[in-house]
Amino acid sequence: MQVLSVTPEIFPLVKTGGLADVTGALPLALAEQGVAMRTLVPGYPAVMGTFKKKKALLAYPDLHGGKASVHAATILGLDLLVLDAPHLFDRVGGPYGDATGADWPDNWRRFAALSQVGADIAAGAISGYAPDIVHAHDWQSAMTLAYMRYGKANAVPSVITVHNLAFQGSFAASIFPQLGLPANAMSLDGVEYYGGVGFLKAGLQAAWAVTTVSPTYAQEIRSPAFGMGLDGLINLRAGDLHGIVNGIDTDIWNPATDHHLTATYTAKTLKGRAANKRAVEERFNLDHDNSPILCVVSRLTWQKGMDVLMSSLDDLVASGARLAVLGSGDQGLEGALLAGAARHRGRVGVVVGYDEGLSHLMQGGCDAILIPSRFEPCGLTQLYGLRYGCVPIVARTGGLADTIVDANEAALSAGVATGFLFEPESGDAFRHAIRRAVATYAEPALWSSIQRQGMKADVSWDRSAQKYVQLYRSLTSKRTA
Ligand code: ADP
Ligand code: GLC
Repeated sequence: MQVLSVTPEIFPLVKTGGLADVTGALPLALAEQGVAMRTLVPGYPAVMGTFKKKKALLAYPDLHGGKASVHAATILGLDLLVLDAPHLFDRVGGPYGDATGADWPDNWRRFAALSQVGADIAAGAISGYAPDIVHAHDWQSAMTLAYMRYGKANAVPSVITVHNLAFQGSFAASIFPQLGLPANAMSLDGVEYYGGVGFLKAGLQAAWAVTTVSPTYAQEIRSPAFGMGLDGLINLRAGDLHGIVNGIDTDIWNPATDHHLTATYTAKTLKGRAANKRAVEERFNLDHDNSPILCVVSRLTWQKGMDVLMSSLDDLVASGARLAVLGSGDQGLEGALLAGAARHRGRVGVVVGYDEGLSHLMQGGCDAILIPSRFEPCGLTQLYGLRYGCVPIVARTGGLADTIVDANEAALSAGVATGFLFEPESGDAFRHAIRRAVATYAEPALWSSIQRQGMKADVSWDRSAQKYVQLYRSLTSKRTA
């Protein structure tokens, strides 16, 4: 089976969050199940710099205002189709905005172009390549499915995965004439969304199947509280909605071989983590003592409950724990965290920025990872935590609720606990969970049994990749039925 994936990010080339980890790891997991996934990605500078352009597979004299071409490249086992369109993607900054973080004003055009090319490929524009399924991710590639539906590829089955309903790609109605869609697409069951054009909405409407990245989030987004205005449509599509939890790349995230660690270790040699803990103390200017180090590795945003963390800082320090934070995002939160570190010198350390290597060291050296999200479609850092013996302390929502077993009395006596859960948004509940964890840490045998239990959890892609394969098969059989 051949699947065309269309995505705005892919690890290790372009990453702003978990989406990239997923689109980078899923093709490798699917390959083991006999599914060949090719991935169409924008030719950002970080992508174009990694391969030598050969003859173009597809050429556009004018794609939304400039010349464009599609090139094949194999990078680290990933079979890529790169959309080289310098007028859209050759820019200094991030994938969605400039160095100051401001969105590119023509994002609608950039991702409509990507999607249009995806739909062309689905329709057979590359000779000798006819994907059986097209799989789009989030609003940036959602329009692929709308272009397919209103174009030549409307018989090709399609899947959209929602990684985060908070990002919808909503634009003014005035862009519609430039999208190149037929007039009837500007309708309630097409791309129209609250009087404008909604990219994610259009994809949800057009997709043969909709998936999201955990079963609990799949349920949550059917309610107004989590549906972000799309719950009505999601309920209409409930029969085609699937929650498939993310896995992680267990080769990249392997404490036994991780070159970002000061010392590698396994579940049998947990004492080896001590050298990593010392390295974390150095890096975050933390006191040297025997107290637990809790950590946060996160985008600093409202979604991630960073305000709840801020309001619990004094209590966390009073509980005897130390805290190491690596994150970037909201400038107000960055400033507040740095001020908190200054107030609690030696107890709280903050690194503002994005540092893949340091994030590995923290999982390998800190005792627990805090994830107080308001909502979390899946979450990957708790899975890395499980794999590294960095015990997850997480809000009971979305994928966090699906992947962590709370250390309550029943779970402890059955030996199945892997972390600590608490009610989202509640500072009291968060602080209580921290105190429970600190008290448990004081019982080394119990703590290490929780660590080992977590390290046993299957966080690989194996089972979830099988679920995607089953879904793909069910859709291709609908096509032939
Ligand atoms: P989201 O995609 O919503 O940000 P996930 O938990 O799914 O949340 O994925 C976040 C990914 O980004 C993880 O791989 C995490 O380790 C990484 N990450 C987040 N912030 C940073 C940072 N400041 N430095 C390094 N890695 C980070
Ligand atoms: C989104 C979600 C996160 C999820 C990731 C990968 O960024 O916020 O919960 O893990 O996508 O699916």
